[in-house]
Amino acid sequence: TVVDRLLERQRLDNNGVYPETIAVVLWGTDNIKTYGESLAQVLCMIGVKPMPDALGRVNRLELIPLEELGRPRVDVVVNCSGVFRDLFVNQMDLIDRAVRMAAEADEPLEMNFVRKHAIAQAEEFGLTISQAATRVFSNSSGSYSSNVNLAVENSTWENEEELQQMYLSRKSFAFGGNVSNTQQRQLYEASLKTVDMTFQNLDSSEISLTDVSHYFDSDPTKLVGSLRKDGKKPASFIADTTTANAQVRTLTETVRLDTRTKILNPKWYEGMLKSGYEGVREISKRLVNTMGWSATAGAVDNWVYEDVNDVYVNDKEMCDRLKNLNPNSFRKIVGTLLEVNGRGYWETSEENLDRLRELYQELEDRIEGVE
Ligand code: BEZ
Ligand code: MG
Repeated sequence: TVVDRLLERQRLDNNGVYPETIAVVLWGTDNIKTYGESLAQVLCMIGVKPMPDALGRVNRLELIPLEELGRPRVDVVVNCSGVFRDLFVNQMDLIDRAVRMAAEADEPLEMNFVRKHAIAQAEEFGLTISQAATRVFSNSSGSYSSNVNLAVENSTWENEEELQQMYLSRKSFAFGGNVSNTQQRQLYEASLKTVDMTFQNLDSSEISLTDVSHYFDSDPTKLVGSLRKDGKKPASFIADTTTANAQVRTLTETVRLDTRTKILNPKWYEGMLKSGYEGVREISKRLVNTMGWSATAGAVDNWVYEDVNDVYVNDKEMCDRLKNLNPNSFRKIVGTLLEVNGRGYWETSEENLDRLRELYQELEDRIEGVE
């Protein structure tokens, strides 16, 4: 299964040690398209088996015995999209029950990380173990997304900490049996502190990480790094379960693959440019989303921006085409390249930066109608 591969991969990279906690992002659409696979993944991490009733509905849960599981129960911190929350209250409740079940199982702490962390949190915050075992979070009812995407799209942020505070304040509402839609920011932060791995499923092969801003908007990778005592960024994985043979890749590999198949792929961008004005806008959108992955996860290699600059700016013919097709969106591309450099996500030559600054000014003048 995807979870076995994920745990094995992490163990290989990590001297045979299992992750203690996995932060999982759940979306409604991927849960629909994969018939609840992401839900099953979370239960599998904890080592809980869903038991269908006579009508095939899953509402009973059983702990898989440790001997059968053959590994520790891995703790989870689940963050659901607002769409997931609207569609799947019962499923959130199911995960919540599974977590509490594991936390209350009388098992050795080194084989049950859910219990290990819940006991520590219960002591720290003066709660019962069951209260401490709160792991299902989302936005407050009626609210959607962390808004990190809006901040990145509009460049209305000073530093990454600001983005992380936004994420924490909007996505720290707990859901499940005893806690419905109540903000539990302290517990959310405490749970993120032990995260060694972040994980999300892709929900379609057509729409991937740089196509829409919602993917980086939901990603907690750098946030976890800033909360962990050792400041270490967790490993990040993305599963593509849209095909029969599910692929598990690191987030960085997935971003790399996505940029190679889109913004850096001549077939893709020439196709976009056939639609003229709108095509340039699509290209600029992909670049902004790529910057989002630098901001929330540090998942973008330097060469990605270098190659984007080579393809769209340093190529004189391409540069002229873009100026004419859509100076506004081209200015956004040029401005974004300057911004990723300014924020420390792209190191490049002074020569490149000078050219970008000049070009930016030229595009401004053109847009303002100054000759
Ligand atoms: C979802 O399916 O949960 C989702 C869809 C669009 C944006 C964000 C989340
Ligand atoms: Mg998805």
